[in-house]
Order: sequence, then structure tokens, then C-alpha cells
Amino acid sequence: MTLLCGDCRDVMPAHGPYDLIVADPPYGETSLSWDRRIAGWLPRAAQALTPSGSLWVFGSLRSFMATSGDFRAAALRHAQEIVWEKQNGSVFHADRFRRVHELVAQFYPASARWQSVYNAVATTDDARARVVRRKKRPPHTGAIPSSTYRSLDGGPRLARSVQRFRNAHGRAIHPTEKPVALLDLLVRVSCPPEGLVGDWFAGSGAAGVACRLAGRRYVGCEIDPDMAQRARDRLAAILPFPVGEPS
Ligand SMILES: C[S@@+](CC[C@H](N)C(=O)[O-])C[C@H]1O[C@@H](n2cnc3c(N)ncnc32)[C@H](O)[C@@H]1O
Repeated sequence: MTLLCGDCRDVMPAHGPYDLIVADPPYGETSLSWDRRIAGWLPRAAQALTPSGSLWVFGSLRSFMATSGDFRAAALRHAQEIVWEKQNGSVFHADRFRRVHELVAQFYPASARWQSVYNAVATTDDARARVVRRKKRPPHTGAIPSSTYRSLDGGPRLARSVQRFRNAHGRAIHPTEKPVALLDLLVRVSCPPEGLVGDWFAGSGAAGVACRLAGRRYVGCEIDPDMAQRARDRLAAILPFPVGEPS
């Protein structure tokens, strides 16, 4: 576990290549002193990935639309996104709805094939006994007839693309700290066991906590020296323990 202090654009490339990059860059939407969009980090991140690596980026639709040209210029292709629903939210001056969600979107280099990008399958643990009606499949999926069967445990289900996690409100050490449980999901699905995760805008080091619990190696980078030290202290206080992989 390493938490570097500096500008990720200068510091992080030399510590890769990364199986997974998680990035929670400033969205450029608030008056917080550090909340200014950072130019030029995307091409460096894209080049610092392993051949099967990908990038999960936090943002709002507004921040993604404002930076969509940067993703294109860095030859990064959008793969999928998760909507993270929170228990509370923020009201921005111009909004007429309380914003209780954020986006996390996965990207991979356009030069890579999606099939070769590391992706474990996330399943939910809330499956219930149910009657499954199997529809007749199109011919290219093989000769599977339509049928009905009773599944005793409901069977594994793909995790939903809308995920609800409590944010760290009230106990956060960073004003925009992300929930460890959400980072844990991203890390397990998109980084192989013992692979290397690069956290380019580390803040409180929440992604490092997720890596420590999930058994992934971690290099984080935070530009603010005080926050970097608090993140280091936080990581040093976590005990690793074994947790199962998504099946
Ligand atoms: C949105 S916050 C990240 C919060 C973090 N994900 C967490 O859960 O605590 C963005 C962080 O990036 C840091 N930052 C801004 N520019 C940076 C840069 N060029 N290199 C590294 N960190 C930077 C800011 O100081 C801020 O702490």
C-alpha cells in the first residue's frame, strides 16, 4: 500500500502499469478550493494501464459532458456505468431536484478489445426462490428450448447498475469521500486478485481501504499534503482479512 503526495499527472505513470485505475477527479462544480477540473491526466492514465486494464471514473453527467472530448482525445471508450444512489444528497444552486446520485463510468483504451479487459461478474446475494420462465433463445445462442423450472435459491443475478450505498456523511475525513463498499465493488469486479490499483485522486484513501480488504495492491496519489497524511494514517489502521470473490 502506497500513498504518494504530488500531482498524479507527474507521479502516477512511473508506478504503473495498473490493472485498474480508479479516479475521482474534482468535478469542478463547487466553490471548494481544490474543486477545479484537472487537464491532461486522462491520456497519462490511459497509457498507464496494463493490456487488460480499465478505468473507473467518478463524476456527474454535467462533469462527464464537459470533459467528453478529453476522453475521446485520450482514445478511451466508454464501457458501462453505475448510478450510485446515496441516502442524502446535495442541492446545487441551479438544480430543481435534490441530487441523490452520482455516476461511476468504466472506460478502456479504444485499441483494446472489450473481451480482453478484466471483468469479473458481480452478482447480488438477494436472490429468492422463484419460477424461472426460460424464453426460446435466438438460434445463434444454441438449441435451448423454452421451458419453465423452479429455482430453489433464485440463482445468481447480475448486480444492478443502480446501487445504493450510504455515503460517509458525518464520519468522513474528506468533503467528497466515497463509500468503501462502492469502491470495493469496483475493485473486485475490475481488478484481478493481487492486481495493482492506481487511485489518481486519492483524497481520504477510501479506495485504498477497499483494496486492503479485497487483497489488491494499491498506489494512491493526493496533491494536498495534509490529506495525504490523513489517508496514510487511515490505511495504516486497517487490518486485512480474507473476503470472498464475486462468482
Ligand atoms: C473528489 S476528491 C477525491 C475523494 C476521494 N475519492 C475519497 O473518497 O476520499 C479529489 C481529490 O483530488 C485531489 N487532487 C486535485 N488535483 C490533484 C492532482 N493533480 N493530483 C492528485 N490529487 C489531486 C484533491 O486535493 C482532492 O482531495
